[in-house]
Amino acid sequence: MTILGIETSCDETAAAVIKGGGDTIEVLSNIIASQIEIHKKYGGVVPEVAAREHVLKILPVINEAIEQASVNRRGMINHAPTINNHVPTIAPAIDAIAVAAGPGLITSLMVGMGTAKTLAYAWDIPVIPINHIEGHIYANFINKERADDRQQTTEFPAVVLTVSGGHTLLALMRGHGDIKTIGQTRDDAAGEAFDKGAKMLGLGYPGGPAIAAEAAKTLNPKHQAPNKLQTSNSNDQNKINLPRPMINSKNFDFSFSGLKTALLYSLKKDKKWKNKIPEYACEYQQAIIDVLISKTIKAAKEYNVSTIMLAGGVAANEELRVQMAEATKKQLPDLRFTLPDLRFTTDNAAMMAAAGYFKAQRQEFTPWQDLKVDCNLEL
Ligand code: KG4
Ligand code: ZN
Repeated sequence: MTILGIETSCDETAAAVIKGGGDTIEVLSNIIASQIEIHKKYGGVVPEVAAREHVLKILPVINEAIEQASVNRRGMINHAPTINNHVPTIAPAIDAIAVAAGPGLITSLMVGMGTAKTLAYAWDIPVIPINHIEGHIYANFINKERADDRQQTTEFPAVVLTVSGGHTLLALMRGHGDIKTIGQTRDDAAGEAFDKGAKMLGLGYPGGPAIAAEAAKTLNPKHQAPNKLQTSNSNDQNKINLPRPMINSKNFDFSFSGLKTALLYSLKKDKKWKNKIPEYACEYQQAIIDVLISKTIKAAKEYNVSTIMLAGGVAANEELRVQMAEATKKQLPDLRFTLPDLRFTTDNAAMMAAAGYFKAQRQEFTPWQDLKVDCNLEL
């Protein structure tokens, strides 16, 4: 089965074609037009600007995904007529379209959904609306380089930590299509915490990669830390010490806004903070990671799961990937641990198509007349 995925929830215009068979998903193309450079100057995503950019990019991106996947046109193999040199008017050999229906920015979602509806009508193929968070989770089901390794495949039930710019949630996945939220953030998402922390430290947007890069400097043997300065792993008086909010709470909820405020006050108190950006970034990143790992391991124990999965843009964070793998190995050695390949962590359409493939197997199609977007769509 061949699925076209479309993703426009936030600031990436993305289209991908995947081929599914049994539990195997092969990515034939994965095209992403990122708007990061456009939004950088505003320090964050401007919804109106994002939607306009999606309108400009959506058809060229879909066309490129189809071309790169070499999905033969039905009927006309080489010379299918196109609309303005974009998107063939003769249907390509695609069985269904999987498209983000929410959560996300409403006008951005509408561009992807409107396009999916139109193509479904023109090509006479079904549409599968996908929850963006479910899409992130399904990045774990795209074939891995080490697909033969049992540790890289999911056995249900699984606990999934989904961490992105808009969401931080722990979910219990008992099987395909059976995903229940067991905890979520009460305020800022983990990615949002990275972005806001980076802004305070004068680093660029998006903040996650910027903080990770600064934090990594502290591990470089050539890095000269200011005198006696250490992070909270040491007992030194000068250590930077940020809180781990809700780390000991009994539930599986998160809160990151207090951490952000703690960073703000630490910087206000410290006249020389500009000389210690890598150290602040390292401690801030570690505070987020400590909470995420602690809650995920606790949930895995409580629900007696077989697999821990990581998903979402923040799952691109190398320290989180490594430390979560180590914590699982040490504390729950019988469990599997899966995480998406790096290119499927931040927003992409291959993950939407992957989620769509499993829904298509259950015939979960929606007639184009009934398709809607919902900026607050829940799992
Ligand atoms: O999933 P995603 O692409 O978009 C949303 O659904 O929100 O996630 C974007 C978020 C941003 O907040 C970004 O700062 C964060 O993922 N991110 C990272 C890293 N790469 C992206 N956070 C920490 N470390 C990274 N390497
Ligand atoms: Zn996302």
